[in-house]
Order: sequence, then C-alpha cells, then structure tokens
Amino acid sequence: MSTSTKYPKLDLNIILEDVKQDINKVSWKSPSNIAFIKYWGKRDVQIPMNPSLSMTLKDCTTTTQMEWLPRTDFSGPHVEFYFENKVNEKFKEKVQKYLNGLLEELPFLRQFDLLFKSENSFPHSAGIASSASGMSAIALCLTSFEQKLFGTLDDSTEFFSKASHLARLGSGSACRSLFPKMSVWGENEFTEGENNKGVEFSSFHEKFEDLQDSILIVHSGEKEVSSRVGHSLMNEHPYAEKRFSEANKNLSLLLDYLKDGDIFKFGEIVEREAMDLHGLMMTSRPSFLLMKPNTLLIIERIKKYRLDKKIPLFFTLDAGPNVHVIYPKAYSPEVKTFIRENLLSLCEDGKWFEDSMGNGPEILG
Ligand code: PMV
Repeated sequence: MSTSTKYPKLDLNIILEDVKQDINKVSWKSPSNIAFIKYWGKRDVQIPMNPSLSMTLKDCTTTTQMEWLPRTDFSGPHVEFYFENKVNEKFKEKVQKYLNGLLEELPFLRQFDLLFKSENSFPHSAGIASSASGMSAIALCLTSFEQKLFGTLDDSTEFFSKASHLARLGSGSACRSLFPKMSVWGENEFTEGENNKGVEFSSFHEKFEDLQDSILIVHSGEKEVSSRVGHSLMNEHPYAEKRFSEANKNLSLLLDYLKDGDIFKFGEIVEREAMDLHGLMMTSRPSFLLMKPNTLLIIERIKKYRLDKKIPLFFTLDAGPNVHVIYPKAYSPEVKTFIRENLLSLCEDGKWFEDSMGNGPEILG
C-alpha cells in the first residue's frame, strides 16, 4: 500500500482477452458524506490540519463505470469522461490531472486508456457537493482495476484502505466515503484516525444508528469559493492554530457523546462545528460569506423548534448555504411536517432531499 509498491510486468494477451470478452470494466456506486467535525485546512499533499469525523450517506451517490483499453506505448492514461451520457470536458480535465498525479504510485496506468461513465443520484446543479461521492467512486474503480491486474490487496480491509488513500488524493473529504456509517480521517489522540486515509468508526451508541439527514437546498448555484482556495486560506488565517486545537477538543467531546448516546450534547458540537467552519470563512483574508439570508432563518427556526418541542434535531453546513438537518429516524414524521410547513418556503423552489446514514459503497459489476 505504499508508494513504493512494485508491480510485475503485465501480460497484454490476458488483457486483450478481457477486452474481447467485454469484461475490461468495473462499476461502483459510492456515497457522499456529511462531516460532524469539519476538515478545513491542509498541508503537503492533502494532509489535513485537524481530524474530522463524518456520517456516510445512503442516497446521495455517484455511480461510475471505468473501462480500460491497453495502449501499445507507455504514454497513457488518456482519459475520456462521460457524465450523465454526455462528454464532459471539465470532469475529464479534472480526472486526467488526478490520474497524472497518481502515476508514480500506479505506474501501470501509463499502459492504458480509461473511459469513465458517471452519474449522480441527485441533480448535478442541486447544490449538493458531489466531489466526495465522485472521487471515491473513481478511486474504487482504480483499486478494483489494480486488484484485477495484480491481486495485491489481501482482504476487504486492505481494499477499502487503498481506495480511501487514493480517494484522499482526489478530494480530501472523499476518503471518508468508503466506510459504513461513520468514518474518521486524520491523526488524533482519541481514535485510530490516520492522515493518509479514512478509517471506519463504529464506537457509537445505537441511538445514532439511524440518523437522518434532510438536505435543504437554499441555493443551487456554483460554489462561490472552491474547496482548494478555502483550504489554502487557512495557511495565513489569524485563528488557524486555535481552530486546529478546537477541532481536536470538539472531536474528543463528540466521541464521548457518541459513545454515551447523549444526543443533545452531540448536536451542540455538530452545530458548533458548522458555525466554526463558517466563522473561519468569514474571518479569512479575503473573507467569504457563504450563508444566505435564508440559511440563517432556517437555523433560527430549527433552534426554536428544538427548544419548543424538546426534539433532537440539529443543523450542519458544508462550505455553502444549504442546510443539513440531522435527527434520529424515530422523529421523522414530526420533523418532516415541520420541514414542510416551516422551512420549505425558505428553500430554492422548495427543493430538499431526504437522506440517512448509509452502509458505504457497493460494487455493481
Ligand atoms: O474535500 P474537500 O477538499 O472538498 O473539502 C471539504 C471540506 C468540508 O466539506 C467543508 C468539510 C468536510 O470535512 O467535509
């Protein structure tokens, strides 16, 4: 699993036989994830400045098929990318760059051309981040490809670890999408978290088993600031050091509440992390305000509803204006009524998606 893996020489006849039999492809469905402890700030090659913890989603997924064709020289991989049945030059460029960056680690890719066909379970322009599901699906295809060619990975733990490591190099948060239920990424004193890949996290009370995530779309436009720029602003951020230590403290507290089943305390940390993330954006140089007026109204209404009804529902945010409403399944009927009656009027065209904790990626063929 290290960058120094030596791969044996490939037998092109076997690969050509696979092409003839139309089995030179693999397909994975991989989910998105929502962070409870946020990753914001990185160093070196996608090494996080603080640990993060996320819930794997069930229904917001990307399905990607990767087909390989051998080349007669070593100048590959040449990439073709179809998104929702149409050639997509932007994604092609992104994936080509990603694969070029992996050539030292996966040198065998030079001998292939790769054709990707990808689609999301949610509308592309919905304002739901797709880099975690998209990059993890590609990383899984690459890992399956390596396994088919060389059989180097001993078991499923090694397989998903490798896929998570490759996903991280595409998009940091994508490395947490490879595992069922919850995942931790980044070294810390309290868990087995590692910097170069995500790990599964399962030390939580059964109360959290069926968490729901209703995603309220406040604004579906392009992100005002890319994650890349956002992370880089943490390099010179006046509160950077404090943030990194707070993230560790918040993780330590969250782990206790997850273990003990203290759902209201859990929610306090989840909301604190969302506000810290946006506070960091607001206080970076230059600053970014990614919440919209309706984001704030939704947050206020969620807090008031919780206070009035004593129901454990909480908000969290990604690097954008859309609101993730987190709550246990047992409260679904009343929370959904509350969302329909009080929050949907604040969403763009009344748009929202229901999701929940999921079991991780699925191989389709
Ligand atoms: O994976 P990236 O580089 O797109 O960063 C995403 C960071 C947040 O979504 C804002 C937080 C997180 O931990 O997912």
